Amino acid sequence: MSDKSDKNTFNLTRVGKYELGRTLGSGNFAKVKLGKHVDTGKQFAIKILEKDKILKVKMAEQIKREISTMKLVKHPNIVELHEVMASKARIYFVLEYVTGGELFNKIAREKKLKEDEARKYFQQLINAVDYCHSRGVCHRDLKPENLLLDSRGNLKISDFGLSALPQQLREDGLLHTTCGTPNYVAPEVIVDRGYDGAKADIWSCGVILFVLLAGYLPFTDSNLVNLYKKIYKADFTCPAWFSPGAKKLIMRILTPNPKHRIDVPQILQDSWFKKGYKPEKYTQFRDVKLDDIDAVFNNESDDHLVAEQREQPRSSKPTLLNAFELISLNKGLNLSGLFEKKEEAKSESMFTSKHPAPEIISKMEETAKPLGFNVQKRDYKMKLQGFDIGRKGHLSIATEVFEVAPSLYLVEVKKQCGDTLEYNRFYENFSTGLKDIVWKADGLDVAA
Ligand code: ADE
Repeated sequence: MSDKSDKNTFNLTRVGKYELGRTLGSGNFAKVKLGKHVDTGKQFAIKILEKDKILKVKMAEQIKREISTMKLVKHPNIVELHEVMASKARIYFVLEYVTGGELFNKIAREKKLKEDEARKYFQQLINAVDYCHSRGVCHRDLKPENLLLDSRGNLKISDFGLSALPQQLREDGLLHTTCGTPNYVAPEVIVDRGYDGAKADIWSCGVILFVLLAGYLPFTDSNLVNLYKKIYKADFTCPAWFSPGAKKLIMRILTPNPKHRIDVPQILQDSWFKKGYKPEKYTQFRDVKLDDIDAVFNNESDDHLVAEQREQPRSSKPTLLNAFELISLNKGLNLSGLFEKKEEAKSESMFTSKHPAPEIISKMEETAKPLGFNVQKRDYKMKLQGFDIGRKGHLSIATEVFEVAPSLYLVEVKKQCGDTLEYNRFYENFSTGLKDIVWKADGLDVAA
């Protein structure tokens, strides 16, 4: 997320009929915030894109068509797109709100998944990918960060139809881009001779299956050129614990030549894949209006633009959390994170403090600066931007102080961009520096 768009969305509180809440995630082109419909109270995830970033590339008809398709489709494993809105500077996608977090966090927590569980996610992934491909929509950026889990632990793919946005289409009708996450990208995408988006998605599904079963990536190298060489040659080794069936399927998917790569109908016939496969029933097309998408992309008049409201400057108190908000902040009624110190890689942390909120803020600033971070503050929120370029770019961290009871504060610390392990190293040093203000209950260190 660039500084510019971050500043622009920092204090947005309402767009059209949606009140905006906390940030759910952010990436290079977009930020996702929690939204609540003011009439119905229903919660949504609102994806915010800066127009100047995405419209620099000619908005091809295909992009509009794909987004329209995504509004029409309804599949249990695909995040639903409810509405598209625009203001002068931004486009807003109103998406189904999914509460179970990223599949990536589950892998980071559990290291690797059991074969049956990995197969269940892979079946859901292929089922959803097949459904979209058969409607002419490819994802092109399938990776664990785009795989969310719902409250029942089912997979939900986000961004189907949206990832065509910043990408270039040339006259041959094939896609030309190299701007995916390289670890998951198919060899033909890297060499940019134009590619079949569906075949490239299958490759990414193969990398995801490998990660689910292994707990690590099949292709890695700190040097980008060497990484591309490994991908191009499909230079990877399956660990000994992969079953012969899983290994065979992965080898058929991670085949460099897309013409020889297994396709979806063949995957559906594979014996490892078929075990216990119960394809979800889904309804066909929904009866929805597409005039919002027409209005946003045709750009002929300003009549359709939604109003944006911003927070009044300088609130003098931290946000007060009620019990429900406190629970939702710590994901699905699981408060164990508040009391246990776990060793796993995490991209979010929190601690409690009984010190006054302004003191917590200044102590965090004082601690972050010598660790090599630029600090931006606004009320009880802070953004820490690492000076060093890490494995996945600069580390960027957002913090917010919440009041949970008189004189008791909860501080949320979240990685926004950068590498999770680098974030974990940062948090270890950061929490050590904050030990004087962290509240320890009955001998428990509540920095989690
Ligand atoms: N982060 C990105 N998209 C999301 C969604 N649809 N629901 C919850 N968190 C998200």
